[in-house]
Amino acid sequence: MPLVTTKEMFEKAYKGGYAIGAFNVNNMEIIQGITEAAKELNSPLILQVSSGARKYANHTYLTKLVEAALKETDLPIALHLDHGDTFELCKSCIDGGFTSVMIDGSHHDYEDNVKLTSKVVEYAHARGVVVEAELGQLAGVEDDVNVSAEDASYTNPEQVYDFVTRTNCDSLAIAIGTSHGAYKFKPGTEPELRFDILEEIEKKLPGFPIVLHGASSVIPEYVEMINKFGGDMPDAIGVPEDMLRKAAAMAVCKINIDSDLRLAMTATIRKYFAENPDHFDPRQYLGPARNAIKGMVAHKIENVLGCNGKA
Ligand code: G3H
Ligand code: 13P
Ligand code: ZN
Repeated sequence: MPLVTTKEMFEKAYKGGYAIGAFNVNNMEIIQGITEAAKELNSPLILQVSSGARKYANHTYLTKLVEAALKETDLPIALHLDHGDTFELCKSCIDGGFTSVMIDGSHHDYEDNVKLTSKVVEYAHARGVVVEAELGQLAGVEDDVNVSAEDASYTNPEQVYDFVTRTNCDSLAIAIGTSHGAYKFKPGTEPELRFDILEEIEKKLPGFPIVLHGASSVIPEYVEMINKFGGDMPDAIGVPEDMLRKAAAMAVCKINIDSDLRLAMTATIRKYFAENPDHFDPRQYLGPARNAIKGMVAHKIENVLGCNGKA
């Protein structure tokens, strides 16, 4: 099966009250772990590439690895640019075979965001590619940009209808209290998301797919493993799974997960070396890391996203 866009995936997910996982990919083992889990559970999939990942692994290597995953799984897979920040980057991914791009104009003022997003949409739609845009700003680190909690801002529901109709974007990332990375909420406080804002947005844009970034659960099992084997992440905290399930049942059709992949991989490798300090064949530690990713993604698909059997 060739790469698909997210159009049909989102239509089905919206109606079915589930979400599609959008997993960040950087290398072969990550792609294999994710796609093997999706294949076993017959799940649609979004594989997303940040500009940092593209710099690290190279566009051609990543697209060829995804091509291999398509051949091995025969699943509907969308290849998506995560947090594109310029027209040129989006264009390069569209020209290079991606089926979906995000233009993240959330750091710009409203009118500039509308202008930049519209330009990307016009170029993408003429080539059969879909576009995710963002309104509101998440806290946390993405690529080299670090947005502090004070500078983050919730999406204003009063702006979403105007933004979507003027830009003609295909999905919208919103800020309701999630953030990127492994430290999402203040230590000692109860994690809280603004579901009231999501509800308002849903009312303003009935049937329109919403995207949740910064949606890793920061799975405690892996954080504990990292801490046990020489790490130091006592304050790591993610989005509770029941909140993600609630969002998936609402208008959220795409749930972005990167930190949980990083934690599963790193915890497994730390444990491996603590137990096998004299091993040095990369296959010995990358194999278990790939299995950990597969198990973690299978758990998300079945117990959080609800997209198992929906391919
Ligand atoms: O939202 C950002 C993703 O976690 C990607 O991270 O830019 O370090 O690859 P990265
Ligand atoms: P996490 O850091 O919560 O995994 O979020 C990833 C993300 O939003 C990628 O765009
Ligand atoms: Zn993000």
